[in-house]
Amino acid sequence: MTLLVRDLAQLATPAGREAPLRGRALGAVEVLEDAYVLCRGEAIEAVGRMRDLPALGGDVVEVDGRGLCAIPGLVDCHTHAAFSGDRVDEFSLRAGGASYEELHALGGGILSTVRATRAAGEDGLREAVERHRGWMRARGTTTFEAKSGYGLDRDTELASLRAIKAAGGVPTWLGAHAVPPEFEGDGDAYLDFALAEVLPDAARIAEAADVFLERGAFDVEQARRYLEACRGAGLALRLHGDQFTEQGAIPLAVELQARSVDHLEATGGEGVRTLAESDVVGVLLPASALFLGRPMPPARALVDAGAAVALATDFNPGSAFCESLPVCCSLAATQLKLSPAESLAACTVNAAHVLGRSDRLGRLAPGYQADLVLLDAPDWRYLAYHLGGELVARIVVAGELR
Ligand code: NIG
Ligand code: FE
Repeated sequence: MTLLVRDLAQLATPAGREAPLRGRALGAVEVLEDAYVLCRGEAIEAVGRMRDLPALGGDVVEVDGRGLCAIPGLVDCHTHAAFSGDRVDEFSLRAGGASYEELHALGGGILSTVRATRAAGEDGLREAVERHRGWMRARGTTTFEAKSGYGLDRDTELASLRAIKAAGGVPTWLGAHAVPPEFEGDGDAYLDFALAEVLPDAARIAEAADVFLERGAFDVEQARRYLEACRGAGLALRLHGDQFTEQGAIPLAVELQARSVDHLEATGGEGVRTLAESDVVGVLLPASALFLGRPMPPARALVDAGAAVALATDFNPGSAFCESLPVCCSLAATQLKLSPAESLAACTVNAAHVLGRSDRLGRLAPGYQADLVLLDAPDWRYLAYHLGGELVARIVVAGELR
């Protein structure tokens, strides 16, 4: 099928072909006024100004883009979309002053979602991930990564990964998210089990592995052991690091050549320098910092030091019940001091790089997958400007209008 989106007020895309983008290149967005996008099959064939649109033969489905702006389909490279139930009671307690870490230590937090997710069964999990994908798409996300990590037993971890894949997501095995109750706080014994009994099958479904390296979760030696085993099984590596305290996540990520280290709310000057000199992407999750009332990550310092950064939601029921990348772009502008252009690159090209897909996702340019968001806005920067607004008019996924 040939799809022509025509008469767009603006088309905005990260410039160039490289990934990940750093420094000045992160903010280099190309903007065309009065523009079109021509998609053939699943790919973009051409983008340009209306006055340069060539005559098109054959069957063409036309979309009227007047008053709309096109940007690349958004890529959410960090979500925990495979969960059941909610944590609205805990949210209310936190509003009254209880801390996230206290609730976790009392067996609430992540472990309460583990109980609900184990009880959901495979069909329940599939429905949940599909529902969450619908929420994400309504906010302009055309590619999402999602982690397991609320099963922590063999069946539920594998069912989570299958549910993510079935919904078209990019699955990450977060086998080291928390120590489940049956291991009574013995993280080493739990990892013995997870690496022997779950990893071989998880590695057949997942593309990456992730670990929560934090006081009260897994320490740096446990994280190293888990990640090395996962790398040996062919998985790319990610880490939840420096969320509450610095526990050596950045040096470990660099040493193991991880794809990313995510959170970074507690990262200090040394960590910023180490990350900036490396190929590891720092994934910024401002919705999570906001939702927990925590300090924001040192995003400006990271970008200015030359680090590659991505922007993601961290969508989950406990620390970031927010599926909206546009809201994260607003937070990036107001809290992280990133320009709308830097945010756009961070949740398109650089996020695609974290998922190993930057050759085909994250830009509006010939040859890239035809994933588009049509914003109901006269200027593409409303993506960050219209805080919580109903911004997304239509999306196109692999050349199909949704
Ligand atoms: O990225 N920090 C660890 N994991 C998630 C939160 C999970 C939860 O609270 O359910 C995060 O914030
Ligand atoms: Fe997370």
